Amino acid sequence: MLYDTKVLNHSDKNIEYVAKLLQDGEIVGIPTETVYGLGADATNIEAVKKIFLAKGRPQDNPLIVHLSSIDEIMDYVEYVPDIAYKLAEKFCPGPLTMVLKKKDIIPDITSAGLDTVGIRIPYHHLARRIIKACGKPIAAPSANLSGSPSPTTAMHVYDDMNGKIPAIIDGGSCSVGVESTVICFNNDYVRILRPGFISEEKIKEVTNKVIIDKAVLNKMVEGDIIISPGMKYKHYSPKANVIIIEGNMDKFTNYVNVHSEGATYGLIFDEDKLEGVPYLTYGDTSEEQAKELFYRLREFDKLGAETVYVRCPKKTGVGVAVYNRLLRAAGFEVIKL
Ligand code: TXA
Ligand code: MG
Repeated sequence: MLYDTKVLNHSDKNIEYVAKLLQDGEIVGIPTETVYGLGADATNIEAVKKIFLAKGRPQDNPLIVHLSSIDEIMDYVEYVPDIAYKLAEKFCPGPLTMVLKKKDIIPDITSAGLDTVGIRIPYHHLARRIIKACGKPIAAPSANLSGSPSPTTAMHVYDDMNGKIPAIIDGGSCSVGVESTVICFNNDYVRILRPGFISEEKIKEVTNKVIIDKAVLNKMVEGDIIISPGMKYKHYSPKANVIIIEGNMDKFTNYVNVHSEGATYGLIFDEDKLEGVPYLTYGDTSEEQAKELFYRLREFDKLGAETVYVRCPKKTGVGVAVYNRLLRAAGFEVIKL
């Protein structure tokens, strides 16, 4: 253990303290509206290396760079297409990451060797205060160990990063609960690389030219072009074997009871009841499900779950983001009844 990791409240003094840690090349846990991030000065190669090390993250997976205001975007990117401006006007600050051509000030380690960088201006006031106080662009992946569910509370960050980082700012539980929508631009088309709270439907309020990348809902096979490296990894996985079940609650109940052995659990909607097998619920609306999903996946680990059968979420709006994360947690195992 390198550090005696402190979970700190968001007093002015503590914000100044973590801003100073960031300036000094340390990495810290910071709240955002989506999930907690593991922040470092995006322009400091040694600091960014610490992120990859602490997470056990593959070197080919680029980091998102967080800014405190839209006005700073041009300091870090070569060019912003018109449609990106329109989207930024409507959704930034917020849970949207735009992949743009990077300037040299963003080192290769941060962009994993790509000539682009994902830029996000978080909505969370603490995230923006920390970035502003630090005065640097902040590279921040989700603050989980690589492969495990993203953290939506400061304690989740502590569970994964205890001893590896000096401090975490506690901003309560994240209001969105799934990571930002990641988009890139091809000609005048917007391509969704990772779905999030800013859904396809919301983007369509600005432009009809929206494509959902194949990797969002399909398992990549050899020969597929992978634009967003993060999408190729099995992800968000609790220790249990997660299986998604499509079908009504009666069929779900029957299937789970027939196939339950060892520590089997259900993950169902708030309005449902599951006889025969213990369960947790994750809301009824897509927004509630997004907010609670990672929390529940972490609870299953604490319960020692071996198998978790999940009631399939809606696949529209924010539900696409929930389904995308579940598909990865389940290694794409979906049973249709
Ligand atoms: O909500 C979020 O985006 C959170 C909070 C902390 O802001 N951050 C986050 O970062 O989820 P991370 O590193 O866990 O996920 C970043 C995703 C990965 O799938 C990565 O491959 C993709 O964004 N990405 C980053 N830069 C990219 C780029 N230049 N081109 C394509 N994909 C990129
Ligand atoms: Mg992540």
